[in-house]
Amino acid sequence: MRTQVAIVGGGPSGLLLSQLLYTDGIDSVILEKKSREYVESRIRAGILEQGTVDLLARAGVDDRVRREGLKHDGFLLGVDGTVIRIDIQKLTGGKAVTVYGQTEVTKDLNTVISGREGAIVYEADNVTLHDIAGPSPAVSYEKDGQTYTISCDFVAGCDGYHGVSRASIPADVARAFEFLYPFGWLGILADVPPCNHELIYAHHRNGFALASMRSHQRSRYYIQVPASERAEDWPDDRLWNELEVRLSGLAGPITRGPALEKSIAPLRSFVFETMSYGRLFLAGDAAHIVPPTGAKGLNLAASDVRILADAFREHYRKGNDEALTRYPQRALDRIWKAVRFSWWLTRLTHRFPSMSPFDIRMQVAELNYIRDSAFAQTTIAENYVGLP
Ligand code: APR
Ligand code: PHB
Repeated sequence: MRTQVAIVGGGPSGLLLSQLLYTDGIDSVILEKKSREYVESRIRAGILEQGTVDLLARAGVDDRVRREGLKHDGFLLGVDGTVIRIDIQKLTGGKAVTVYGQTEVTKDLNTVISGREGAIVYEADNVTLHDIAGPSPAVSYEKDGQTYTISCDFVAGCDGYHGVSRASIPADVARAFEFLYPFGWLGILADVPPCNHELIYAHHRNGFALASMRSHQRSRYYIQVPASERAEDWPDDRLWNELEVRLSGLAGPITRGPALEKSIAPLRSFVFETMSYGRLFLAGDAAHIVPPTGAKGLNLAASDVRILADAFREHYRKGNDEALTRYPQRALDRIWKAVRFSWWLTRLTHRFPSMSPFDIRMQVAELNYIRDSAFAQTTIAENYVGLP
């Protein structure tokens, strides 16, 4: 078997890359370890920057997000019962974000890609990269007891944080940076109307809370919890009670409902700067992880994919590899800025166990500065809608 670009991983990065390449007449095959049902049931964040929606349009998969996505032109920062509204639209000259679940983006991409014969192999076991340093790489995998090998021109590593692609880069050239946060986010999804029509990022003495949504009928909430905590420690009532405490005075009443999903995610900032090695190029979570504060994860994955798809197009249309060579440098500039913003917003709004009373006063002073300064609010809005 042969293809031009072998894509490892069928999450949003791999799916979007494959569809963009297809629209440019470039052939690819996606190898995904899990089943389609599994991939489509993973619940992740739900805020799309305008650039991400535009990229979905370029890939021809923006119908549903335009119909069902909710345009948000502001959000709230909550501080001890009072709110600061960040008027994204006013502060960024008319920009907005779209509330639309990553799960839905994945489904939309799968719908078009499943119509392309042989474009994706689900439940591909033991995916292994071969000869990525040389001119003729290949990817092998096992399925139903058989081993298959696909030779290709390039390998795109879109297999997330735990994938095999990043691990295939020799340790002596790898440059990685990491910061682990001493807490996680406990999330709950429920079919109840949201407590507010805009998102609320709340600073509270018990810890951070976020009120988000998927639609007018489906809410998504999170609270900061110690890293050692388990979702089983949080029966629905305990979680709703805590949300009421942390969001008190910031929004309307919180409507309770049974959890459709409840899980704890650890928070981490991670950048693997070696985003290319020979014929292998990493994109999305395979190369970087950000804490969910600010919802940059999927948007960063989309911007990697845009830069990489453009570089492949230059290669195949013009025989020019300059853009492929410059891919890591171009992608990393935007990645580090998003890593900074999500780290900064996390530090501003969360209670770290190591914080002294002085540190907490500093947080509140910074929030009060933001409340009173259009300049500070503009900085936040500009980052939130997505840097160019
Ligand atoms: N072989 C094949 N597929 C693999 C392997 C492997 N060895 N390891 C992982 N995968 C698959 C996973 O099953 C998953 O479907 O790669 C996919 C990676 O998808 P994601 O983890 O969603 O990463 P990405 O596509 O880059 O999407 C980034 O996801 O985690 C969020 O915040 C993040 O929103 C961002 C988005
Ligand atoms: C979500 O709705 O899941 C969400 C929204 C905003 C964030 C993170 C997660 O910053």
